Amino acid sequence: MPGDESSSFEEIPNFEKRKAEHIEYALSQESQSFVKTTFDDVALVHEALPEINFADIKLNDTDPKALFTSPFFVASMTAGHADGEAINDRLASACQESGWAMGVGSQRRELFDESEKKRWQLIRKKYPDVQLLSNIGLSQVIHTPVDKLKDLLDSIDAAALMVHTNPLQEALQVEGTPNFKGGMKALEKLCTDLDRPVILKETGCGFSKITLKQINDIGLFAVDLSGSGGTHWGRVEGMRAGADSPQQLAAKAFANWGISTVDSLLYASHVKVNYRLWASGGIRNGLDAAKCFALGAKKVSFARKALEKAVVSADAVYQFMQQMEYELKIAMFCTGSKNFSKLQQIGNVANYPHLTRDINV
Ligand SMILES: Cc1cc2nc3c(=O)[nH]c(=O)nc-3n(C[C@H](O)[C@H](O)[C@H](O)COP(=O)(O)O)c2cc1C
Repeated sequence: MPGDESSSFEEIPNFEKRKAEHIEYALSQESQSFVKTTFDDVALVHEALPEINFADIKLNDTDPKALFTSPFFVASMTAGHADGEAINDRLASACQESGWAMGVGSQRRELFDESEKKRWQLIRKKYPDVQLLSNIGLSQVIHTPVDKLKDLLDSIDAAALMVHTNPLQEALQVEGTPNFKGGMKALEKLCTDLDRPVILKETGCGFSKITLKQINDIGLFAVDLSGSGGTHWGRVEGMRAGADSPQQLAAKAFANWGISTVDSLLYASHVKVNYRLWASGGIRNGLDAAKCFALGAKKVSFARKALEKAVVSADAVYQFMQQMEYELKIAMFCTGSKNFSKLQQIGNVANYPHLTRDINV
């Protein structure tokens, strides 16, 4: 996961225990944050005369440089332990069936454990058509030569590298390494030296306007905003920490820390970004996703909602994917949007007060 950047030589049993706890707590209700600006505060404008047929609505991303054509993908989630293999297999199987791409969980363990490489290679072999997105933490990027990171992508034939940043989680994780000094420089070097696109992602705390500006010229392909409103890694680490430990007490204070996905999208709309915007974090259904697209996102991903299904079966994941596409199409139909460029016209977003407020953060 996020929070994977503790010592490269962490004992495997500890590592696996942590990963199993992450999945258990991420599925709990208490891991979900409450935020001020949510998708419920944004409305798409209903069009009574859409002048299109439902069957003609196209969901494919027509950007010739897009990494994959589906508007959706499964967000990076580390299974990272023996039981996690079934979860990854079900996610990949459903992705193969539906054409969704899949963000793999942090590959940090592969940097020091060859057997972990084999697990992902098996998935790659079994599901050859799935577009996989590699994943590593920013604190690993700071200390790892680009060639070694390239190996992570090569080992699973990944289309791109997602670099996750998770300061809150690292600060609250008992085993965490809250060391991000040199991150910006390392990211810039990675974007220059890696032979594939780099995507920077949060893990549920979103991006401020200032940060979105700071990273504008470093060569990122996309920024996955992953804002608050869904899985909150401060909460998860609080649940993992001992009763009344400093981490648990602090996690309560920071239980709703972060910038919502909606606000992150709004901040981005105030910056002339040179990278693509991707959205995740608290996206519950196809209508939330449609709102993200209308607010400028080019791709949308689900972590918690996909995980809920992946602990059941591959078919449950596949049905979930179909449902998301169906709901997105309804939103497009009822806004008269035959394709994404139409949906992305700003006129489709109702002018709620917070959408027009002066954003100076
Ligand atoms: C079990 C689990 C493991 C995760 N592991 C990773 C990871 O390894 N790398 C990463 O970038 N994000 C990871 N995430 C974060 C998600 O990609 C996503 O940013 C975050 O959970 C917010 O999305 P959600 O509200 O849909 O859950 C993980 C999420 C979950 C639920």
